[in-house]
Amino acid sequence: MATSTLTVRRATIDDLRAIAGLIEVCLDEVPVETHLKNAFGVTRLTYIADIQGVICGFVDGFFTRSVEGALRFEVDLLAVHPCVRGQGIAATLINEACRQAAVHCPQLNRALVRVDNAASERAFRKSGFSGQSDVYELYVSNTHSLAVSAEHFVPVVTLTYSGHWLEGGLQPVSHVDVRPASSALLGAVVPKGSRASALLDDLGFTMLGKFHWWIHGAKT
Ligand SMILES: CC(C)(COP(=O)(O)OP(=O)(O)OC[C@H]1O[C@@H](n2cnc3c(N)ncnc32)[C@H](O)[C@@H]1OP(=O)(O)O)[C@@H](O)C(=O)NCCC(=O)NCCS
Repeated sequence: MATSTLTVRRATIDDLRAIAGLIEVCLDEVPVETHLKNAFGVTRLTYIADIQGVICGFVDGFFTRSVEGALRFEVDLLAVHPCVRGQGIAATLINEACRQAAVHCPQLNRALVRVDNAASERAFRKSGFSGQSDVYELYVSNTHSLAVSAEHFVPVVTLTYSGHWLEGGLQPVSHVDVRPASSALLGAVVPKGSRASALLDDLGFTMLGKFHWWIHGAKT
């Protein structure tokens, strides 16, 4: 398929089925339809790539605030169908989402990219992002109790889950709170080999891999 007929536009609710398909094929996750619909109702920037009526890629991002209150645009999910990769579609999607996000004047745009994901790194670099050299580990937990406290809890609704990102200093807590939403997930991105990563290991969080932050704009 030639990208000369590529259209990038804001996603509508009618595009969710195609987005779900791309999440499955490209990101190896099976999204829950009701969650996807609900998440789409939350303020976000989702753009799709359409070639001759076929949706072949998407990007999804949303805003968060750092512990200091800085507005950040999180480029959270990015996928392009294997049949049309290597033609600049991901970079076009990233550029469009960031262009629209700029209306809100975020202090930075950022994305978490797995250390061995050369294609994603290249797409972000082409879009003006810089990869940070520090390696981070991504930990998640979906157990129903909360045995850790964080300096900063960031509520997030992604297209595949909702929950909180834990940021800043992490501490074990002696009393365990029970989390209300059973589908809620906790995630933390901590420096590789740090005390925080040892704590999360001890608390039974699952380590999903090693990543670099890719940043466009000021670093917080
Ligand atoms: C990452 C992904 C979105 C890139 O989509 P894409 O439309 O092919 O990206 P682009 O064409 O804009 O840019 C990819 C660049 O990486 C290059 N590339 C591809 N595979 C590569 C590899 N193994 N090593 C080095 N560079 C590679 C391409 O040549 C291209 O660079 P160029 O334009 O200088 O030639 C797509 O591969 C994908 O969906 N992967 C699976 C899901 C994923 O990893 N998502 C991102 C999570 S952060």
